[in-house]
Amino acid sequence: MSGRYLVTGGAGFVGSHLVAALLDRGDKCVVLDNYSTGHRGGVLPDAHAIELDLVDVAALDRVLADGPWDAVFHFAALSLVGESMREPMRYLGDNYGNGVRLVDACVRHGVNRFVLSSTAALFGRPTTPRLDEESPIEPVSPYGESKWLIERALAWADRIHGLRYATLRYFNAAGSDPAGRLGEAHNPETHLIPLVIDTALARRPELVVFGNDYDTPDGTCIRDYVHVADLADAHLLALTQLDRGSVAYNLGNGGGASVMEVIRSVERVSGLQVPYRITGRRAGDPAILVADPGRIVRETGWSPRFAALDDIVRTAFAWRSAHPFGYDNSDTKPASPA
Ligand code: UFG
Repeated sequence: MSGRYLVTGGAGFVGSHLVAALLDRGDKCVVLDNYSTGHRGGVLPDAHAIELDLVDVAALDRVLADGPWDAVFHFAALSLVGESMREPMRYLGDNYGNGVRLVDACVRHGVNRFVLSSTAALFGRPTTPRLDEESPIEPVSPYGESKWLIERALAWADRIHGLRYATLRYFNAAGSDPAGRLGEAHNPETHLIPLVIDTALARRPELVVFGNDYDTPDGTCIRDYVHVADLADAHLLALTQLDRGSVAYNLGNGGGASVMEVIRSVERVSGLQVPYRITGRRAGDPAILVADPGRIVRETGWSPRFAALDDIVRTAFAWRSAHPFGYDNSDTKPASPA
C-alpha cells in the first residue's frame, strides 16, 4: 500500500535521493525546502514541492494540517563541520531551533513517525576503529552538537508524546542516483569525491590533500563513504522498525578509504589523472571515521548495493561529468580553482 510523506530538505543531496526512492515505489511525496542549499532541479517532477522556511511555523502548520502523513523525514539542515566552527549560533539556531519547531508541529498535528537525518559528527574523536551506536557521543563541532540536541529532543517527544523516530547517523554520503536523475552539487563544493572528480576533469588545477601525517597506513585521513541510494534504502527500512519502538542506526559500509585511495579510485574509474598537492591538516578532521553498521544490517537486513568505493565513484563521476554546472547555471557555478 502506498503512503504519503513529508520530506523537509527534499531538494538537497540525500533528501532528493530519498524522494526518488519513495516515488519509485509508488509513494506520494511533499517536499519542503527553502532552497538555501537545495536545488529546484533536485526535486523530481512527481513530487509536490513547497518553498518554505521552517522558521515560518504558521506555514508549517498549514502544510501539516493537510494530512494524514505516514511519516515526516527531516533533512533540512546546515551540514558543514568547518562552517559550523565559524558560525556556531547559526548552526544551532537552524538545525536545533528549526528541528524543535518541526518536532513540536508534528506532535500537535498527530504525526507519529519521524525520521531524522543525523551524522557521524556527533561522535567527536573516535576512540575505537569502528563506531557503533554505543560509542561515546561527544560532539566536537556545533554541527555535531546541533544534531545531537535534536536527537535528544526526539527522545523526549517519544517519551512524553509517543512520537516514534529513527535517527540515522550518516558517515560520508557520496555517489549519485544510479538512474542518473540526481547528483551531488554544493556551492561552494567542499566534499572530497566531487572535488577529486572536478580535478580529474581539469575543472580544477589540483586537489589539495589536507595532511599526510595522520596515523593511517598512507598518512591521509580515512572515511567510510556510503552511497546516497543505499542511504535512501536505509531510511525506508528504518521506517519499518518503528512499530516496535524508536531506533538509532549508524550508516556506513564498515570499511574506510583514505584520501589517496579516493584519488586512485577516481583515476581508475575515469581513466584520467588527478594532480594533487599535500598541505597542512584541516582543523577538526579526525584521522579515521568508520562505521560499524552491524545493528541496521541485523535488524533490517540492509545490504548496500554500492559497497565498493569504485562503484560509488562511478555513479558520482557519471553525474558530475554530465552536469558541469550542477542542476542548472543559475544556482550552481563550477567550483572556483583551488
Ligand atoms: N579532504 C581533502 N581535500 C579536500 C577536501 C577534503 O583532503 O579538498 C579530506 C578531508 O580532510 C577529509 C576527507 O577528505 O579527511 C573527507 O572530507 P569531506 O569534506 O568530504 O567530508 P567530512 O569527513 O569532513 O564530512 C562529511 C560531511 C559531514 C559529516 C561527516 C561524517 O560533510 O556533514 O562527513 O563523517 F558529518
